[in-house]
Amino acid sequence: MKKVLCMALILFFIWACQKSNSYTYTKDIAPILLENCTPCHQPKGAAPFSLINYNQVFRKKNTIVEVTQSGLMPPWPADRDYTHFLGEKYLTAEQKDIIKKWVENGAPEGNYTDLLTQTYHPYVSAIGKPDTTVWFDSILIKGNSRDHFFIATLPIRLNQKKYVRAMEFIPGKNNLVHHMNGRLLNYELDNKASITTGKRLLDLEVDEQSYIQQFNDLKLANDDGSRPAQINSAVNYLPGATGQIYPPGIGGFTINSKSILVADDIHFGPIPQDKWSTGKVNIFFSKTPPNRPIREVMMGTNGESKIIPPLIIPPNQITNHTSFLKIPEDISVLTVNPHMHLLGKSFKAYAINPSGDTIRLVHIPKWDFRWQYFYTFPKMVKIPKGSVIYVDACFDNTKDNPNNPYNPPQQVSERFEFGGAGMRTTDEMLQFIITWLPYQKGDEHISLDL
Ligand code: HEC
Repeated sequence: MKKVLCMALILFFIWACQKSNSYTYTKDIAPILLENCTPCHQPKGAAPFSLINYNQVFRKKNTIVEVTQSGLMPPWPADRDYTHFLGEKYLTAEQKDIIKKWVENGAPEGNYTDLLTQTYHPYVSAIGKPDTTVWFDSILIKGNSRDHFFIATLPIRLNQKKYVRAMEFIPGKNNLVHHMNGRLLNYELDNKASITTGKRLLDLEVDEQSYIQQFNDLKLANDDGSRPAQINSAVNYLPGATGQIYPPGIGGFTINSKSILVADDIHFGPIPQDKWSTGKVNIFFSKTPPNRPIREVMMGTNGESKIIPPLIIPPNQITNHTSFLKIPEDISVLTVNPHMHLLGKSFKAYAINPSGDTIRLVHIPKWDFRWQYFYTFPKMVKIPKGSVIYVDACFDNTKDNPNNPYNPPQQVSERFEFGGAGMRTTDEMLQFIITWLPYQKGDEHISLDL
């Protein structure tokens, strides 16, 4: 009996070895990478190098094993055991194992007749042919292997007021944009003589004085100093995700003939050499006015609910903060966006409905400031009237946090300027942005995956 078992084990071992020996790029690896990596790792993608052919992948094979084993790539900070969103990218344990075994075996190329999908999908418009396209000024990204943060503005002049169905950011060559959240400032014709006199770029890594100076130089206010009307989240960009358009009847807004798109907190990843980054915005008009325009509520910094205790993080401490907001009507949630800076450690948001049940929203167990997603639910999530949304966040201001901007650690907090908190990277923020619609019957069955 023992002999038989032994024999069986040996046979199994030989079989297992042969199986792992047979992994090839064309048959096993390319399909995994095409699905999970090339949306970013392609010439126009968000990643600094491509992984679209054997040579490119072979050259990076050891780091590929490292980053897939550690879970760093593909980047998806949200806890998939908590809630699911559109466009999730992840590898199964089996896929990670296949990559590892393939590399251990010398990373063979294989036979090209095995390659089912030959090509990656280049990053183009997900929506179709835009009615008009406007370009941001090119931004020079210094090659000092550090992250860079800016506010960039884009004046848009149209011959008349129009309805917009969607706006979409498309990165250009050398794209290094990690995330971009664009709000649109709509000017009334008489309120602002010129939308093009202001500077187009603000460096967020400067001291307070210079920040204030630079912010004023953007000249975003009306001529009398008042604030123009604003459409929040007119366009959001997340690396690897294609433009967002909602089902007919949902979303859209009006754009005045004079407007400025403000890309807040546009974040570029580290690069070793100077490069110019470009990006354009596709605009899709609509003949009909928006039927159900998307609303936005912000909790925490600059938002409608305060942070408890206030976001002041003493050096060498790990602190927990919470924020909560009561929902006065039935709402349908489309997207959620947790936002913190470099000291963020973890983030969780959920609602508790009036009968005490929890409605899960999002959990980021290990915050990574580099991956700031607007997470879109597969179907809208109903939060009934009287529910309370809670945000629980943890910040790490110790020297064990590799992203700590100060060494030795210093007190870090929100910093208030211009009647709100500024966005310099080295200051902190705790924000939770929810895009929503007043609830209509059946909303929870509408798929947002178009
Ligand atoms: C959402 C976009 C995105 C996806 C999807 C993605 N990457 Fe990346 N990857 C990046 C970016 C951006 C960088 C540059 C490092 C950074 O900025 O964090 C990077 C860096 C890397 C690196 C270099 C890491 C280092 O430490 O030098 C490797 C290797 C890598 N990715 C492999 C992969 C593999 C393999 C996949 C698929 C399993 C993948 N990536 C999926 C965006 C992506």
